[in-house]
Amino acid sequence: MLIIKSVEELMNVAFRVKSNGKSVGLVPTMGALHAGHVSLLQKARQENEVVVCSIFVNPVQFNHTEDFEKYPRVLEHDMSLIADIADILFIPSEKEIYPTPPTEQYHFGFLETVMEGAARPGHFNGVATIVKRLLDWITPDKAYFGEKDYQQLLIIRQLVKDYKLNVQIVPCPIVREANGLAMSSRNTRLSPEALNKAGLIHRVLSLSTQAIHYPVEQIKQLVIKELNDVPEFEVEYFEIADATTLQPVTDMNTPESVMGFIALHVEGVRLIDNIKYK
Ligand code: PAF
Repeated sequence: MLIIKSVEELMNVAFRVKSNGKSVGLVPTMGALHAGHVSLLQKARQENEVVVCSIFVNPVQFNHTEDFEKYPRVLEHDMSLIADIADILFIPSEKEIYPTPPTEQYHFGFLETVMEGAARPGHFNGVATIVKRLLDWITPDKAYFGEKDYQQLLIIRQLVKDYKLNVQIVPCPIVREANGLAMSSRNTRLSPEALNKAGLIHRVLSLSTQAIHYPVEQIKQLVIKELNDVPEFEVEYFEIADATTLQPVTDMNTPESVMGFIALHVEGVRLIDNIKYK
């Protein structure tokens, strides 16, 4: 695995690889890699001749300095996990990515006004800033994103559409722990008891799909109550929305595809997950 720290070298290597007619798959990450990231990398491996993984804890997508500082940084572990899958690992410093404070302003309309967009002002602008720069520097054929961050996936698709970027965005299914908890780098901050209890999130969401014929408001209240009944849990939002536009759904029959989206705090750690209703 070739390790690259400078943008200049990254651009040179990417240019050479593409000039040789090789296909390139990019998996952008913030590190603290787990089986979810590995599944993205494996898919990239299957579909491309050259796989690039980036690890950069992007300061401008965090709303709280404390959250940024607490974000796990475990490079040795990450490298051992991906050494056999990725060809190139890009691990830039903050100065390398942002020699001067970034000023990009992206607009995603309704998509950025709800759920994660509403709860974390500026978050998606920060995500778009780093993703757009990586896509411009590497010009991959495909880039891989997990469906756990479903709203992020839609935002990135919108970015690609708005800027007419020549890249295919490949969504990858959520990878779960044995108890159903969606894999996340933040899970490492949970106690073993909380990790255990957090399996309930997916169980409750899955059960709620059986209530698809109930009124939407009733399904929402059921999910919120079930989870808030656990003392360590505090639901921040649970929304049922059109999977394409994220517009709230009042009648399950109307949109073609409907999903439920949750954010909750478990022992003070903020987790998100989602479920497909139809
Ligand atoms: O999903 C993530 O890990 C991050 O938001 C991303 C896409 C790597 C941008 O920093």
